[in-house]
Amino acid sequence: MDLFEYQARDLFAKHDVPVLAGEVIDTPAAAREVAERLGGRAVVKAQVKTGGRGKAGGVKLASDPEDAVAKADAILGMDIKGHTVRQVMLAQTADIAEEYYVSFLLDRTNRTFLAMASVEGGMDIEEVAATKPEALAKIPVDSIEGVTPAKAAEIVAAARFPAAVADQVADVLQRLWKVFVAEDALLVEVNPLVKTGDGQIIALDGKVSLDANAEFRQPDHAALEDKGAANPLEAAAKAKGLNYVKLEGGSVGIIGNGAGLVMSTLDVVAYAGEAHGGVTPANFLDIGGGASAEVMANGLEIILGDPDVTSVFVNVFGGITACDAVANGIVQALQLLTSRGEEVTKPLVVRLDGNNAELGRKILTDADHPLVEQVDTMDGAAQRAAELAAK
Ligand SMILES: Nc1ncnc2c1ncn2[C@@H]1O[C@H](COP(=O)(O)OP(=O)(O)OP(=O)(O)O)[C@@H](O)[C@H]1O
Ligand SMILES: [Mg+2]
Repeated sequence: MDLFEYQARDLFAKHDVPVLAGEVIDTPAAAREVAERLGGRAVVKAQVKTGGRGKAGGVKLASDPEDAVAKADAILGMDIKGHTVRQVMLAQTADIAEEYYVSFLLDRTNRTFLAMASVEGGMDIEEVAATKPEALAKIPVDSIEGVTPAKAAEIVAAARFPAAVADQVADVLQRLWKVFVAEDALLVEVNPLVKTGDGQIIALDGKVSLDANAEFRQPDHAALEDKGAANPLEAAAKAKGLNYVKLEGGSVGIIGNGAGLVMSTLDVVAYAGEAHGGVTPANFLDIGGGASAEVMANGLEIILGDPDVTSVFVNVFGGITACDAVANGIVQALQLLTSRGEEVTKPLVVRLDGNNAELGRKILTDADHPLVEQVDTMDGAAQRAAELAAK
């Protein structure tokens, strides 16, 4: 999960990384009071989860509270690389003497962690990395030892930080490593880390990406989620514990058991759809092993609630969970939906194969639901689902 700059700033402050005071607002009018609190002058910064905000006009200096309102008004609602600005942070202004770059990240290729640092920080670090790679120091960090004082000194030396700030930068690096470890981050990046006119080192901009796999031991992180941005169907599916991903532009709802089977189902449906005006899958949904009536009902409810869906393909390969159990699950799910007041109006194409397929098919045949059709093969079922979706 990527964080907004102000959230990264809060985590930095929590672990004693030096940052400037700042507050987040979502209306231009609110800027006046905040700017007054910050001393009149303030930097108004777009809060979007993408880089290059400054270059896009999303970071502006306001000279007084009146100006802060005007700058907030200009930046709120702005589109930066497809991200609408819904919040701005007003931050204290720094008297910048020098801009540096530091980051910690997971280095998957080398199966370790990596520190990167450069004295040529600021807005163009990507260009520095591309055109002057020698100006960007890369130092592996051992996961057990972490950033010891010696390791911090090594990073500082490799990036050739000026002697006057070497100790302060080394100290900030150790604190940033604490953020990285304690918060279970995959990335902690500061660009720029600045030296002020009076020689202070301050993190002026932060990017943090948290490891979702650590959610179970980071109860505070749930509050950092940007609920406004999540797709409502995905949010509803997540609340029900389903592995669901909405796919834009598709119209065939997909339910399957096992991620591999579901992914190949997406492929065969997209292929079959070519003959029906380019019909494509509307989602990924893996109901996993078990596939009880309740899980099937929850899955169907999400998919049938998607206005883009015009037909549904249920593709199940019976393994440990036999097809008769899945068939019963489907029958009960349809009853459950009806009892919940959800009228099922979209056709369902079901393909059952594998363990107890015969029995499973018989259960569906006997149930004789007017909207359920069975097709024995995966390709045949994909064809039929695409055809129904195109109608
Ligand atoms: N509080 C501040 N006081 C003075 N100058 C600032 C302040 N915050 C940012 N700046 C200046 O604006 C520049 C861009 O700010 P920032 O790094 O936050 O945005 P950005 O780099 O454009 O965004 P991103 O990192 O998302 O690409 C900084 O390099 C710095 O020169
Ligand atoms: Mg930046």
